[in-house]
Parts: sequence; structure tokens; C-alpha cells
Amino acid sequence: MAISVLVADSKAASRQELVTQLQKDRGVDVVSDSREGRETIEIARSLRPAIILLDGAITGLDAISVIEELQVASPDSGVIVLTENAEHDMVRRLMRAGAEDYLVRPAAPEDILNAIRSVHQTVQKQRAALGTPMVDAANMRGNVIAVYSPQGGSGKSMLAANLGVSLAKAMGAKSSKGRVALLDLNLQFGDIDLMLNLTPENTIAGLSQKGHSGLDAELVEQYLTTHEESGLRVLVAPSTPQYAESITVYTVEQVIDALRDSYQIVIVDTPAQLQDTTLAALDAATTILLLTTLDLLALHKTRTAMEMLRQLYSPEKIWLVLNRANSDVGISLQDVEATLGVPMRAQVPSDGRIVVTSINEGKPFVISAPDSAIAKRINTLAFEILGREGPAANNESSPQDNGGFFKKLFG
Ligand SMILES: Nc1ncnc2c1ncn2[C@@H]1O[C@H](COP(=O)(O)OP(=O)(O)OP(=O)(O)O)[C@@H](O)[C@H]1O
Ligand SMILES: [Mg+2]
Repeated sequence: MAISVLVADSKAASRQELVTQLQKDRGVDVVSDSREGRETIEIARSLRPAIILLDGAITGLDAISVIEELQVASPDSGVIVLTENAEHDMVRRLMRAGAEDYLVRPAAPEDILNAIRSVHQTVQKQRAALGTPMVDAANMRGNVIAVYSPQGGSGKSMLAANLGVSLAKAMGAKSSKGRVALLDLNLQFGDIDLMLNLTPENTIAGLSQKGHSGLDAELVEQYLTTHEESGLRVLVAPSTPQYAESITVYTVEQVIDALRDSYQIVIVDTPAQLQDTTLAALDAATTILLLTTLDLLALHKTRTAMEMLRQLYSPEKIWLVLNRANSDVGISLQDVEATLGVPMRAQVPSDGRIVVTSINEGKPFVISAPDSAIAKRINTLAFEILGREGPAANNESSPQDNGGFFKKLFG
């Protein structure tokens, strides 16, 4: 079957030339063309082309934003950027945004076709992996991402909820089962149900009463609530704090284990207190997102937590994430990295208006304000997680070492 391609270029002459060139090849089907950024996203959303050939100088919306939005609008499309220059920094930004490959203009038709074929192959492989049902084999189970911070109010739940929704959307959770689950481990004062405007019939408290002889995936499934807009499946915290005590480490281990059997990604929102149930989640995690902010108390606590986590787990398991990154408070990113001794994996900007409105309305901002900088950052983080974690724990190759960007940059 011919590879469907969308040509997105603001310059009429070059757009037409690309279309004409590509149409000569029977292996390629130019399904549409577009002349500016937003139009590209909308066409991609409805046509879902296999490949989007994107002009790096597209107007309306800049190429980086277009690529970021395409990750959500048409997650299975591979993006190839035609750029005027291959500056290291530019290429890095394109790659981080989610492009699969780039070509420097003027690019020979044969090179463009080769890139289309190669990216198409890579994307198909990734998609096949995403579609792999989870089976109960040690190396084929869902990845667990724990969001943790020793500092209360640092944004753990905001991140967990929006990341969950972003991943669920990117992985097509609405139409396919077994994609993304979110577990609220704030056993006393969980608020994920409010953040996502859920009306749960069951909570983890019910499971704790059933768990004596072990919990299986089928039983846990009955206690989950669906976030309808995204398809994210949520196990909410007890409705009142007095149930918290009944939830043991054993319950938490069993629940996470069961969720890993049926979901490709399991996100766990944790409380700031390092109680044994929190530790159970950190133990089970394949990745810990350690959240910090630009204030001295948070940094002090994060450093202590980091020291502890590094004694327990391998350094690659811990991803440092900065929330309210743009706050002007006299502490810089460099200070934070120097204090904690590790690089920052992601930065989430501060945006009181969007975050507070989103929480008040129970609508995650990755859905209600997808164009905001904060939503884009979370979407990008979601894609980095997908890239590294892949859908299954045994996914050795990330999309970044697909022979495209990485080879060109370092190989
Ligand atoms: N990037 C941000 N910009 C603006 N406001 C934010 C941001 N991140 C979090 N907030 C606000 O900070 C408050 C705390 O966020 P959140 O509940 O996610 O933190 P938490 O770490 O889960 O807290 P707790 O430790 O109580 O569970 C919320 O009111 C939220 O609106
Ligand atoms: Mg919280």
C-alpha cells in the first residue's frame, strides 16, 4: 500500500514542486497539502497521514509547536522536517518536539523518498509495539511511572493527572483497552477524582477488603473509573481519610502488579510523606519523576530525597522535573542542577491562571488549554516517556535511536 503523505509548506512554489515530485513515485500517495501550521494540524487530525513532510519555516504557527501538537493530533504520523539549516541546536529542538527525521534544503527527491520510507518503517514498528497486548511475562508488563516529591503542594497531582491524560490521548486509550491507568496513592486526601471531575463508584478502599487472597487484574478492573474525554482509567483514593489505614503495602503491591498486567503505562500519584505504601510504589516504579520547585525548602528536601533514592535505585530510574520553572525567585536552573547533582529532565512552567482554572473546572489543561506552554511541556514529557519507556519494559530501542536524528548528530 502506498505511504500517505501530507505536504506542509507555506511557500506555494516549493509546496507544488514537492507534491509533483512525490506524486511521481507509486509508493507514495500525497493525500493533501497545507500552507500553514494550524491548517497542517487540522488536516493531519482528520486524515492521519503516515508521513507529514513539514517545512521548517512554516508560518502561522512555528514548526516546533506544530510538531508538538501533531504528537497529540495525529500521534501515529511520522514527521520529517525540511529545514534551511542543520544547526545543532535547531535540530535538537526539532527532535525533542517529536520529529522523526530532517533533511536540509535543497533535498534531492530520492533523499526525500528514502526518508519517507525509512521513517514510515520506524513508525510502523513503534505502532506494532504499542499494539502489543500485555501478557503476563516478566518482560512484557506495563511500565510504572511514580510521581513523587518530598514537598507538599509541589504539583505532583497536577503533573500525574495531566500526564496521564496526555499519554492516554497519545496512545489512543479511548478506542483501545489497556493503555494507561492512574493510581491515586494519596490515601488520606486524594484529589485526582476532583482534578479529573470523576464520579467514582469504587475506590482503592474497596479493594483493600478483597485483597487477602490476592488481587487479579480482572477484579482491579472493576474498581477503576474512566476519564471519558481521554480514556484514562483511574483508581481513585478513598473518599474519607479513615479508610487510609486499611490500605496496606500488600494491597498497593497487588494493585500495581494487577494494573501492570493490563495497562501499558501505570502512573502513580503519591503523597509527600514517605510512608510504606509510597515506598511500595517507588519500588515498583520503572521511572520516578522527582518533582521539585525553585525554593530553598523544596530543594533541601529534594536533595535529601534524592540521596535516599539513589541508595535504593539506579540513577536512570530517577528523572528530575522542575515545576514552576519560570518563577523569578533568585534561584536558577543551574543552581538546582548543581545542588542536586543531576540534570533536569523536564521543566514545567508556572501558569496560575490555566492550572487553577483547570483544577476548579475539573478539566485537565492538556485538554482544556492544549495550546498553552504548560500543556505543551507536559505533552512533550509524555512523548519522552513513551520514547524511552516504550510501551513495554523490554523495549530496548527508543525512537530516538532509529537511525534518523541520532545517526546524523552523533554517528
Ligand atoms: N505549574 C504550576 N503553575 C501554577 N500553579 C501550579 C503549578 N503546579 C501546581 N500548581 C498549583 O499548586 C497547587 C498544588 O498542586 P498539586 O495539588 O498538584 O500539588 P501536590 O504536590 O499534588 O500537593 P500534595 O502534596 O498536597 O499532594 C495547586 O493548587 C495547583 O493549582
Ligand atoms: Mg497531590
